[in-house]
Amino acid sequence: MKTETATTVRPARNLRGSVSLPGDKSISHRYAMLAGIAEGASRLENYSTGADCASTLGCMRSLGVLWERKDNVIEVQGHGLALTAPARPLDCGNSGSTMRMLSGIVAGQNFTSEMVGDEWLSRRPMERVIKPLTAMGAQIESREGKPPLRIMGAGLKALDYKMPVASAQVKTCLLFAGLLAEGETCVEEPMRTRDHGEVALHAFGAQLQRHRNQVRIRGGQKLRGMEARIPGDLSGAAFFLCAAALFPGSQLTIPHLLMSPTRARLLDVLMQMGLHISVTQVEEVHGEMVGSLQVEGARLKGTTIAGADSAALIDEIPVLAAIAPYTEHGIEVRDAKELRVKESDRIAAIATNLRLMGAQVEEHEDGLTIRGGQTLRGAELDSFGDHRIAMAFAVAALRARGETLIRGAEAAAISYPAFFETLEALVEG
Ligand code: S3P
Repeated sequence: MKTETATTVRPARNLRGSVSLPGDKSISHRYAMLAGIAEGASRLENYSTGADCASTLGCMRSLGVLWERKDNVIEVQGHGLALTAPARPLDCGNSGSTMRMLSGIVAGQNFTSEMVGDEWLSRRPMERVIKPLTAMGAQIESREGKPPLRIMGAGLKALDYKMPVASAQVKTCLLFAGLLAEGETCVEEPMRTRDHGEVALHAFGAQLQRHRNQVRIRGGQKLRGMEARIPGDLSGAAFFLCAAALFPGSQLTIPHLLMSPTRARLLDVLMQMGLHISVTQVEEVHGEMVGSLQVEGARLKGTTIAGADSAALIDEIPVLAAIAPYTEHGIEVRDAKELRVKESDRIAAIATNLRLMGAQVEEHEDGLTIRGGQTLRGAELDSFGDHRIAMAFAVAALRARGETLIRGAEAAAISYPAFFETLEALVEG
């Protein structure tokens, strides 16, 4: 049982300085999995420091993959497409990404794996991977569509699949399964989601074809290990960007940040709301766009996030919503029902915490309406065991009147263990 820690956040005047982000969580998971099933060695620099990505590494080790961590570098010895039967359940911890994406790899093995998660992950829906993987030939037992999963691997057959939910985790899971299947698998997504699965597969040597919202992969292709430096996590940077946006005098520099067009919608939205962001040193690294940001605070207008934007901003909505009361016109979020099945019910968590700070919030099944021009007070809040809620409300607390106590603040370590120290070093009180 983990001990719960409460962290106090005091009001700030400004945010100033430079911050290098640990490697992107989405890319770290994918690189660790693909390095494990590649041939030859991989060297992954700036690997995510988050507990979620450590869960992926732990599972890969249980599947026979040898790796070593040297500071922020992970050296992996590829095992090839055929892994080794695990002696114990694969512990995915809090990580939905680990369970969903890795299920695509273990489904194509000639052994049975059990995948387990913590109390929060055990409540999250897994039918979205169970259904298509079963159609490919795996047999999967679950607790009514929720973890734990018992996956009886098989020689998979290719699948033509139209995903009912926009989910990059599911898309990646099926592309990984497609790599192990016989024939050509085609995955169609209802709208474009982050493409790190496709980009990473290509970087490790696989060939894929994209046509509009369809991606095709031929089974049996061998991967080769690679050396890579993982770009800084854009969703982690979102907390500092939004914190800087709260104070017109802020100045922030973020080098070597992931700027993938499938992830960078946040930058457009913040700029439309009035934040000054300039991007320099743009380069492409293993198919991913990377750049350095210079940010200057400004008065923020409001915005509406709906339709495709809600999918594109799904991990950034908590922090945008948390700063919404401080904007001029407020923020409305719609079409974001997926937030209810993340690490917590994020719509309910945001509404609860904002109300505790004295804000007026309207909660909808698929989003929130948060009026602008509100003054919030410090309060006692809960992370609901959710890293993004803990960090989002640390940001909201910077402009509240009085101190805020965040219970369960240790949840931040799921994606960003050094978050609170880093924030403290950047704020001017
Ligand atoms: C992720 C996709 C998103 C996101 C999660 C990471 C990924 O989840 O919320 O934090 O790395 O593919 P869904 O695929 O469930 O939308």
